[in-house]
Amino acid sequence: MKYDFTTIMDRYNQDAIAVEYVHVPQEDGTAPTIPANELKIQEGLDLIPMWVADMNFPTCPSILEAMETRLQHRAFGYFKPRPEYFESIIHWHQVRHGVVGLKPEHIGYENGVLGGVMSAMQLFCAPGDKVLLHSPTYIGFTKSLSNYGYQLVHSPLKLDEQGIWRMDFADMEQKIVKENIHTMIFCSPHNPSGRVWEKEELETLAALCEKYDVKVICDEIWSDIVRAEYHHIPLQMVNDWMKNNTIAFYAPSKTFNLAGLVGSYHIIYNKTLSDRYAKYASLSHYNSMNVLSMHASIGAYSQVGMEWCDELNQVLATNVDYAYSFIQEHFQGVKLSKPQGTYMLFLDCTEWCKQHDMTVDALMRKGIEYGVIWQDGRPFHGPNHIRMNLALPTSRVQEAFRRLDQYVLNV
Ligand SMILES: Cc1ncc(COP(=O)(O)O)c(C=O)c1O
Repeated sequence: MKYDFTTIMDRYNQDAIAVEYVHVPQEDGTAPTIPANELKIQEGLDLIPMWVADMNFPTCPSILEAMETRLQHRAFGYFKPRPEYFESIIHWHQVRHGVVGLKPEHIGYENGVLGGVMSAMQLFCAPGDKVLLHSPTYIGFTKSLSNYGYQLVHSPLKLDEQGIWRMDFADMEQKIVKENIHTMIFCSPHNPSGRVWEKEELETLAALCEKYDVKVICDEIWSDIVRAEYHHIPLQMVNDWMKNNTIAFYAPSKTFNLAGLVGSYHIIYNKTLSDRYAKYASLSHYNSMNVLSMHASIGAYSQVGMEWCDELNQVLATNVDYAYSFIQEHFQGVKLSKPQGTYMLFLDCTEWCKQHDMTVDALMRKGIEYGVIWQDGRPFHGPNHIRMNLALPTSRVQEAFRRLDQYVLNV
């Protein structure tokens, strides 16, 4: 490997919630956040951060170079995004996702993808409106939509005979009609299931949305993190109707581990939508770009960034293969649909809990006691599920699975 995916970084006291805080599920259903230095874990073991969706790799060197170059100039006044900012996004989407026809006027800055999704909701929905989502569901959608008072209508994804998560189009159609739904939030690739949607699935979805005039807010934050055998297709590329009725969100933050720098963007092709969206955004004066984050983004969406991203995907594929085989071979009663994208595992521990007469809380706590900081899957709508982040050096993933084998799941 040309880039560094093996160094074990000490992120403690370096502004990283991944290693500084732990949510420990209790019997009463709460999960207080405990500072990591107050957590009691078995002596001699360290923490392996496997929860929040950020990565334990040093970021791509071209990002650091771009920021360092900008730092040489000692002033940071008001600014407008440079042409290179838009050009680098357009080039990235062309090369990585085969997008043609994307222009600077289609792209708009967002502080974060989740914030963007919520702004788009205000454009498409009246207060208290119903919105269609798939479950399992990314926790951020659930929390933010509920806080705003929208009504969430879930269409469950179903596992097929091959153990692949699939949309249930009949269920979606029935809910769209019955609940009179005109807005949907679509996660592609899907967190937490790791599904990378196929062309036929996206076409069927598009036909359904067109039939009932359902506008789509499409969260494609995970679009760069996909196994080599799969291919991410932007929903807006499926057909012209979808292109004109979708607001899509992307970010270099997930791909390059830049969440702490803040910086995402939307793509809107339809001029009317884009004008209305810009008007809304201008009202609060809130969504404005940080100059270092702009340079980071330009550095990320570069030739070096492409090579780095390819290597990242190889490392993640190794980790996913390792974890998947390990679970199949050693953890009887733990079920997993192998993720096609993202770096998350969504473990179904229903059978395991039954076999061991243990609750998923107790299982979570036992893992944490041995330093495996995994995440409760229930807020993602997995009743006995645990979500696990594999974006760590492979040696750390192996160590985590060794501990789970030796101390947690097979005792
Ligand atoms: C599907 C999805 N959307 C949005 C986000 C959050 O993005 P941001 O930090 O840009 O708001 C995440 C983070 O894990 C995510 O998984």
